[in-house]
Amino acid sequence: MPGERGRCVSVGITGASGALYAVRTVAALLAGGFRVELVVSDFGRRLLHDELGEAASCDRLIDYLADRYGEDVRAGTLVVHSNRNLGASIASGSYACAGMAIVPCSMKTLAGVAHGLSRSLIERAADVMLKERRPLVIVPRETPMSLPQLRNLVASAEAGATVLPAMPAFYQGPRTLDDLADFMAGKILDALGVPHALYPPWTG
Ligand SMILES: Cc1cc2nc3c(=O)[nH]c(=O)nc-3n(C[C@H](O)[C@H](O)[C@H](O)COP(=O)(O)O)c2cc1C
Repeated sequence: MPGERGRCVSVGITGASGALYAVRTVAALLAGGFRVELVVSDFGRRLLHDELGEAASCDRLIDYLADRYGEDVRAGTLVVHSNRNLGASIASGSYACAGMAIVPCSMKTLAGVAHGLSRSLIERAADVMLKERRPLVIVPRETPMSLPQLRNLVASAEAGATVLPAMPAFYQGPRTLDDLADFMAGKILDALGVPHALYPPWTG
């Protein structure tokens, strides 16, 4: 991710299970000095509350991340947008944003991205990534999946997105939920082209 644009990444959080993956990803980007343009859907806000507790609310998220992952997260800049603000910076391809991850990505938002609906800021920012040919990482979480959901994954991949299912591996010997979240966040940063040390590479 060279150049000025390379220092900015957007993250969308929607109402699919897996809030821990989202906060670990945001924390790792911030610790790497990135400007993170965060958009959380209404159900994403409920998810943060239900899975991580009151302290993980959007308006206090930076403090939550610092408590959980260390003060290094303050190396970056966290900007939170309303999902209803279709006039936000990241709604335009002219804005210098290098890539986007939707983590976790609900089947509803997946459908909107797959069909270019741009009904919300998350969907619009994702559409911008696709039309500008910049990295878009979709982290779906649903099981089992219906045929329309599977087709929406294919349509998103065909449009240029990386489909990166919330499927942590176990060959690294994870012992905690944080180990699993580190692995998923590491895979997301890999797909965005961001260096990290979230999990050790396989050495054979
Ligand atoms: C407790 C709870 C868990 C949910 N888990 C999932 C899930 O894992 N995957 C999914 O696609 N939708 C899930 N949903 C449904 C979505 O939250 C719902 O479709 C919502 O409209 C998504 O909107 P959003 O994409 O704007 O966040 C869940 C809903 C609730 C209330």
